[in-house]
Amino acid sequence: MIVIPGPSSLGLGWRIAEALGVEPHPVEHRIFPDGESYIRLTKPVAGEKVIIIQTTAPNPDSKLIQLLLMAETAKDFGADKIIAVVPYLAYARQDKRFLEMEALSLDVIINLLEASGVTDLVVVNIHNEVSIRAIEEKHSVKIHNLSAVSLLAEYLKGRGFDNAYSLSPDKGAIYIAEAASKILGGGYNHFEKTRDRKTGEIKMEVKNLNISGRGAVVFDDMISSGGTMAKAVEELIAQGAEKVAAACTHVLYMPGAEEKIRRAGADLILSTDTIETPFSQVTVAGLIATTLKGLA
Ligand code: R5P
Repeated sequence: MIVIPGPSSLGLGWRIAEALGVEPHPVEHRIFPDGESYIRLTKPVAGEKVIIIQTTAPNPDSKLIQLLLMAETAKDFGADKIIAVVPYLAYARQDKRFLEMEALSLDVIINLLEASGVTDLVVVNIHNEVSIRAIEEKHSVKIHNLSAVSLLAEYLKGRGFDNAYSLSPDKGAIYIAEAASKILGGGYNHFEKTRDRKTGEIKMEVKNLNISGRGAVVFDDMISSGGTMAKAVEELIAQGAEKVAAACTHVLYMPGAEEKIRRAGADLILSTDTIETPFSQVTVAGLIATTLKGLA
């Protein structure tokens, strides 16, 4: 087995290699003056199971190209099996056509990975499981969609959020709040999320929760602009929550997002290391390593 931490996941890649008990082999990598990436593998891969770890943020386009360069090169040099670990998979938002003639972005990305020789794709918390399975059916790539929610809840439990109320940002993600509540206790529910089509303004509403004087946690798959999380936190504080945590798997760390959420009153912003940011207090290395051990 050859573990290759890609340029965008050096820290997590090393942690996964450590959890697997193998030596990591990072690639040689540089950026040409015009922004193109140069990639060279540093370990022969012929006949080997190759695991490439490369998240796709920030700068999703170049991170995806680097991933394809690594995979295709492993294929060219005779790798037996190529597993792509993409902890945060960009372009997964557009996992179905909402309007006619839109690009089906996730499908395009899976096509490219398949052509580069990837047989298994390990991702964390892509939110729409149904769409993933529909896209998976069209390809030979097997998609393993892991959830980091239990890890986030375990972390919070040890930090004063025992018995806190768990919430998901919408009804479709209620299973996330339910999973967290099994660890934190304290019950769970979901917001009703609506967006004004003209102004883009988000509303996060939830019935009276009876959380006065208690802790509450909002669990989302990602924080991008921070708008969704800020509105959710505001509402929980308006309902009397004593302290509120904003927990998510991926923080895209867009400018202003942190300020927005803190201004709303969040006591804690927490995420994993699928994308390394100052909020990455929880590692998904063990979770991913366990899945990789199960892949023949
Ligand atoms: C939406 O479906 C996602 O689960 C997140 O709630 C959303 O992407 C967060 O985006 P933002 O931080 O820009 O509100």
